[in-house]
Amino acid sequence: MLIQADQSTGITTKYDIPPALAPFIREGTIIARSPGRINLIGEHTDYNEGYVLPAAIDKAAFITITPRSDNEIHLHSIDLGAAYTTTTENIGKTKYSWPNYILGVVQQFKEKGYQVPGFDAALTADIPIGAGLSSSAAVECATALALDALLQSKLDKLTLVKMSQKAEHEFAGVQCGIMDQFASMFGRLNHVIRLDCRSLEYAYEPFNMDGFKVVLFDSNVKHSLGSSEYNVRRKQCETGVAMVQQHHNEVLSLRDVTMPMLEKYVLPEDMLVYQRCRYVVEENNRLLQACEDLENGDMAAFGKKMFETHYGLSKLYEVSCTELDFLVAQVQDNPAVLGARMMGGGFGGCTINLVQEDKIDELVQEVSKAYSNAMHNDVKVYISKIENGSSLL
Ligand code: GLA
Repeated sequence: MLIQADQSTGITTKYDIPPALAPFIREGTIIARSPGRINLIGEHTDYNEGYVLPAAIDKAAFITITPRSDNEIHLHSIDLGAAYTTTTENIGKTKYSWPNYILGVVQQFKEKGYQVPGFDAALTADIPIGAGLSSSAAVECATALALDALLQSKLDKLTLVKMSQKAEHEFAGVQCGIMDQFASMFGRLNHVIRLDCRSLEYAYEPFNMDGFKVVLFDSNVKHSLGSSEYNVRRKQCETGVAMVQQHHNEVLSLRDVTMPMLEKYVLPEDMLVYQRCRYVVEENNRLLQACEDLENGDMAAFGKKMFETHYGLSKLYEVSCTELDFLVAQVQDNPAVLGARMMGGGFGGCTINLVQEDKIDELVQEVSKAYSNAMHNDVKVYISKIENGSSLL
């Protein structure tokens, strides 16, 4: 067990080793824990050099890594009851997704010139897969931290974050931004991270929501479009930047683009690219105002912006889906809900809701019933707590 003390609050947190890992722990075993994440506001802005406001949560991936004397790599997923074996010379993308998140990180260490020895690894997580809570980033960060300890490479946390992100690009095929891995590694108890994805400067903002809680409604769907459309959105944003750059060579990303620039140079050329870029430019501005709301303790104004973000993601950026739109519409006029929106990449996963604490039970009942009647599917509910980021146990 590791006891982490939060330096700013003095609060200590205990992270227990999941009992399922016990059979895999021997002398020399390294154990790492990396959490999933939520994101309050700032969606699809990270790869546009914008801002995000994520936090690590109380659901995490745990990995054990035990060195071997040969060059074999034996991976074990406790939750899936699956195994995968390869050798250190034979690291490549597999047809199964879960080994890719581990092997993708191994490959990053190899590319940096580290001699990775054979090892046994066991993985378990309580982050629901495909729920938009970044279970893959958590596995990557846990692996990176554990391998860093095994190899005694002493890489800084930001380097491990970037290696984890690259693993996602190269082994999972998603050209993701840096938010998920950053939040998983750098999260802090009871704080959100305000991250500038251009400079990578960040600040921890206390997240005090007296009388309110973060409730996640998991749509229980994951549409296959997710990763392909994600990469398409990224390209559309780049196309918009290129159009503006022809007139403003100082523009490097959507971060530098203004609405008048979009209206002048993109709207007449390509309506779809305009809509995509408009959403991102508006979302960056919205996040900055939302941070002011947080500072002023104006949670009602903050929540309103979450609904606006959802509208933009659904109608302009088009990464929502019927199920997510339904879940947001269900709570839109409910006075106990300050704000709600789809969260993460989209095409399924969760909505994030700021809900009055004493009304949660009532709301959960109402939404569950309506969702099952309309979508013939069950909604899953998670009440998130904000936790510390990755650590060795
Ligand atoms: C996924 C990606 C992140 C980010 C979000 C959308 O979670 O991994 O980098 O782009 O989608 O905000």
